Amino acid sequence: MSGQLEGKVALITGGASGIGADCARQFAAEGARVVVTDMQDGLGEAVAAEVGGLFLHHDVSDEGAWKSVVAAVLARHGRLDIVINNAGVFIGQTIEETELEVWNKVLSINLTGVMLGCKHGIAAMKTNPGGPSGAIVNVSSITGFIGLASAAAYTASKGGVRLLTKSVAVHCARQYRTIRCNSLHPGAIDTPMNQAAFDASGDPEGTRAFFSSVQPIGRMATSGEMAACALFLASDAASFVTGTELVADGGWLAASGPL
Ligand SMILES: NC(=O)c1ccc[n+]([C@@H]2O[C@H](COP(=O)([O-])OP(=O)(O)OC[C@H]3O[C@@H](n4cnc5c(N)ncnc54)[C@H](O)[C@@H]3O)[C@@H](O)[C@H]2O)c1
Repeated sequence: MSGQLEGKVALITGGASGIGADCARQFAAEGARVVVTDMQDGLGEAVAAEVGGLFLHHDVSDEGAWKSVVAAVLARHGRLDIVINNAGVFIGQTIEETELEVWNKVLSINLTGVMLGCKHGIAAMKTNPGGPSGAIVNVSSITGFIGLASAAAYTASKGGVRLLTKSVAVHCARQYRTIRCNSLHPGAIDTPMNQAAFDASGDPEGTRAFFSSVQPIGRMATSGEMAACALFLASDAASFVTGTELVADGGWLAASGPL
């Protein structure tokens, strides 16, 4: 099926790389007008150019930046239909290692950034010509369900995203009916974020093999496979889906162990 997002305007945070970049590609291929935002200007501009979209420099933890970005989207396109709150950082520190500065940084990007994206995304979606409408997809993680011992702040941030999503979804359903909000929970995905973590482990190949083996499907996912999940949640095919979790982890959470 093509043209699933025809006529829609999609804002994708962290769109310069990995899952966000593939969302930009797939959404544009389905007819969306795409706005890519990120802190990595060169990569973000290249993705936007590739998909015929707009790039905006954007720190998702900054509320003033969110106001400017949403105003720019409305000035350019006159509407906002989809927000993919995808930007995120991974910093591996156990609870005993966690520095307050690291905790605050991870929470400000991974959780506060998502909250701001919901708040300012809804403000724009309410004003859409024809009445309130829209879909928000918040990229959490399987660490929204299970504790990753090596990453306390990251796990806390993704758990927060999971339940924030439900609060937003219920509010929007009651207030507007047609603004939806769901969370996406990737397992181990082959992106620059994970490659950096593998490199930092001292045994990149062994770590990659480990994260492939914990997913019963036996491999890491591609960022394109995650973008396809985000596309479903963002599209009208998911018109009755709100406040729920799409876990895309190759069976990781379903498995209780090697058996
Ligand atoms: N890769 C995985 O295995 C995996 C698993 C579960 C969840 N996730 C989540 O998926 C999302 C995308 O991750 P990815 O793997 O594609 O990583 P990635 O590093 O390839 O992309 C993340 C992007 O976010 C951007 N970003 C970071 N801080 C930002 C900020 N303050 N403002 C705006 N942009 C910022 C980065 O510049 C980068 O382009 C993240 O939220 C991540 O936590 C990834």
